[in-house]
Amino acid sequence: MTAAAVLVAAGSGQRLGAGQPKAFVRLAGRPLLEWSLDALRTAGFDDIVVALPPGFVAPSGCRGVTGGATRSESVRLALAACPAGDAVVVHDAARALVPPALFEQTLAALADADAAIAAAPMTDTVKEADSSRLVAATLDRSRLWLVQTPQAFRRDVLERALDVPAAVLAEATDDASLVERAGGRVRVVESSAENFKVTTPYDFKVAELLLRERQPC
Ligand code: C5P
Repeated sequence: MTAAAVLVAAGSGQRLGAGQPKAFVRLAGRPLLEWSLDALRTAGFDDIVVALPPGFVAPSGCRGVTGGATRSESVRLALAACPAGDAVVVHDAARALVPPALFEQTLAALADADAAIAAAPMTDTVKEADSSRLVAATLDRSRLWLVQTPQAFRRDVLERALDVPAAVLAEATDDASLVERAGGRVRVVESSAENFKVTTPYDFKVAELLLRERQPC
């Protein structure tokens, strides 16, 4: 199976509040997106398409496209610029601590699925509450997963799933949900909480500590 790689890095990073797009904020000595690019290259991807905020250029060695107003729109635009292939892995630049082996694991899980998603088991108890914050239900956490990227797809399936109105794309917080909506089979590949999405200033501090710990002195 030949696989292309999409790195989505076009978010504004509002929740981080760094005054510039999150993917370009320096994390442990280099722009945040470089950590995910390294992981993709270690996993053997050398033709990577990166969705970027308007006006930003792609790091050397990868192709850049200007991203869209929403995450899934950015995926759709980047996918259109990918070389031909049977499969595609989509990864959030914000998940800087991704273990490179996870790309191959999600691709391998496509053997009996249309999509395969990295996800961590729930450790907290999860409750559903109504708008007045009265608890309506306690969910069975043994069946719940915290969904991450990479997400691997059969390419034709993802292209069809993304071929929907902009309003539908805007509601999707991941691409696999669009495949589910189209009736596709999505498999979970167990990952760890360390593959978290660097979103807030707190996440940034934790990621910085973990990445510095990994670097040789
Ligand atoms: O907004 P969210 O946290 O879901 O973003 C996840 C990833 O999607 C980030 O790496 C971000 O840069 C990317 N993104 C994008 N285009 C957007 C919004 C988010 O590429 N319009």
